[in-house]
Amino acid sequence: MELTDRVAVVTGAGGGIGRALVDALRGAGARVAATDRDGALGGVDADLVRPLDVTDADATAAMLTEVAGALGPVDLFFANAGVAAGTDPVETPDDVWDTVLDVNVRAHITAARLLLPGWLERGEGYFVATASAAGLLTQIGSAPYAVSKHAAVAFAEWLSVTYGGRGLRVSTVCPMGVATPMLEVDPGGMGSRATGAVRAAGEVLTPEAVADAVVEGVRREEFLILPHPEVLTFFRRKGDDYERWLAGMRRLQDSLG
Ligand SMILES: NC(=O)c1ccc[n+]([C@@H]2O[C@H](COP(=O)([O-])OP(=O)(O)OC[C@H]3O[C@@H](n4cnc5c(N)ncnc54)[C@H](O)[C@@H]3O)[C@@H](O)[C@H]2O)c1
Repeated sequence: MELTDRVAVVTGAGGGIGRALVDALRGAGARVAATDRDGALGGVDADLVRPLDVTDADATAAMLTEVAGALGPVDLFFANAGVAAGTDPVETPDDVWDTVLDVNVRAHITAARLLLPGWLERGEGYFVATASAAGLLTQIGSAPYAVSKHAAVAFAEWLSVTYGGRGLRVSTVCPMGVATPMLEVDPGGMGSRATGAVRAAGEVLTPEAVADAVVEGVRREEFLILPHPEVLTFFRRKGDDYERWLAGMRRLQDSLG
């Protein structure tokens, strides 16, 4: 999909990958609404800047109506907001699981429920989920992150299978490490084992490099956008020999202490 004059919404656009996505999309000619939690949008430059907690379905509906009124019907939705929290299931309380699942998965479902009727009527629309390599492989050290990102990939996959024949395009972005606050300060408490595993897995990219890969992947309408191309090799190894892959991941975990 060419992006000139397309209307895009980006969630979690206050920093990191989301903020870089806003800049890259505008650079490609799109008109962009940037949303994030109240107070997280300082200094963001976009065609519309508006607070949104993605876990609030009514607020999401109101935001989409406002964007449509100000910029036109939404062509592309970037479900990018995410949280990294929780460690082992024995230690992670329910409220942490709820937050991670609500932000990383349920918010995608909410947005799709609101956008799909209009997209199907118009015969086109584009849903882009920022998942993670953790959604194809796993996240050492954080069960909630691994589970929620697998679910985000599964939901995107399901949308593509079900509605791809009716004009819906879907992409899922699956990077490994990216130099953003999520990886740097671990605000949600995913734990040092998890962030250490991300750093050990490969190069830590800039958010700008990830945003450029996303814009390119959207232009090519690729389902799987892999800013770290080696993720495809790891994913193939997992599919080729699951037992061997699991044994290798256990060894990697042991090596991290
Ligand atoms: N940084 C990495 O290494 C990495 C790797 C793979 C995938 N990701 C994914 O990329 C996406 C962007 O993360 P990032 O790395 O830019 O980190 P980040 O912490 O800089 O950005 C996440 C953004 O989501 C927002 N957010 C959190 N909860 C929200 C809510 N309830 N409502 C609205 N916004 C909310 C935060 O305010 C923040 O601006 C996430 O989905 C993350 O899981 C990150």
